[in-house]
Amino acid sequence: MTSTDITGRSAIVTGASRGFGRAIAIALSKAGAQVTGVARDPAPLAELAAELGGSFTPAAADAADPVVGGRLIDERQPTVLVLNAGAAPLSRPLQRHTWRTFSRNWEVDVQHAFGWVREALLAPLPPGSVVVAMSSGAALRGSPLSGGYAGAKATIRFLAGYAAAESARAGLGIRFISVLPQLTPATQLGAAAVAAYAARQGTDVPSYLAAAGPTLTAEQVGSAITELITDPGHDQDAYLLTAVGLKSLP
Ligand SMILES: NC(=O)c1ccc[n+]([C@@H]2O[C@H](COP(=O)([O-])OP(=O)(O)OC[C@H]3O[C@@H](n4cnc5c(N)ncnc54)[C@H](OP(=O)(O)O)[C@@H]3O)[C@@H](O)[C@H]2O)c1
Repeated sequence: MTSTDITGRSAIVTGASRGFGRAIAIALSKAGAQVTGVARDPAPLAELAAELGGSFTPAAADAADPVVGGRLIDERQPTVLVLNAGAAPLSRPLQRHTWRTFSRNWEVDVQHAFGWVREALLAPLPPGSVVVAMSSGAALRGSPLSGGYAGAKATIRFLAGYAAAESARAGLGIRFISVLPQLTPATQLGAAAVAAYAARQGTDVPSYLAAAGPTLTAEQVGSAITELITDPGHDQDAYLLTAVGLKSLP
């Protein structure tokens, strides 16, 4: 199947100021999209705007705020949404969590994905649109030092699947896809988790990473998400993403 040209298409990336989201914004911008990047801290967004020029518009906002998704979808008329924003979980064993810390990724990651997915279905986005929601490999195996993180990310995978079914039922022609990246120290969030899991195993970070195999980079995430968006042949609801590439999940 031929790839879709996204030149000039409006894309919104949440959590675009660093880590995976920044790499995704750069990759989509290089592929020709007009990218709106959402994060709370305006300073790194402004730096990215200076780097990418006219193809990137910063939007400093809390992506989990129920008003923000609706407003930005109305204003920017996107045909690509990458729901990547996520809170860094507190790296502690279960008994050292409170309900507030345990539920953090539900309040941020899940609430944000739910709100934006709902707005995408209700708008609805135009046929041919793509919504990518960032889940995690932790959704498959759990993450015992990250409170409710793994369950929240599993719910994001379910959400994208439910939305794909609603899109098909209503003939909307919108692809909803969840992506489950492997743990990587390439980002702030990932580096903290890798350090915690290495310490739990009584080893150092280099030894932990050596045992885990090839490391996923943020640039690989940017390329893989762009590939999912531009290749309509990627028609499954969920993909695992490792340093080896994308693999569809049953
Ligand atoms: N790194 C990994 O190993 C890994 C593996 C699997 C899945 N993931 C998932 O991939 C996504 C990106 O993670 P990352 O590793 O790139 O994390 P990161 O380096 O900590 O970056 C997180 C991004 O999300 C933004 N953000 C956080 N809360 C936000 C909110 N309420 N509203 C708007 N923006 C918000 C941050 O900017 P502000 O703080 O300025 O808002 C930042 O741009 C997350 O959903 C994460 O769970 C990561």
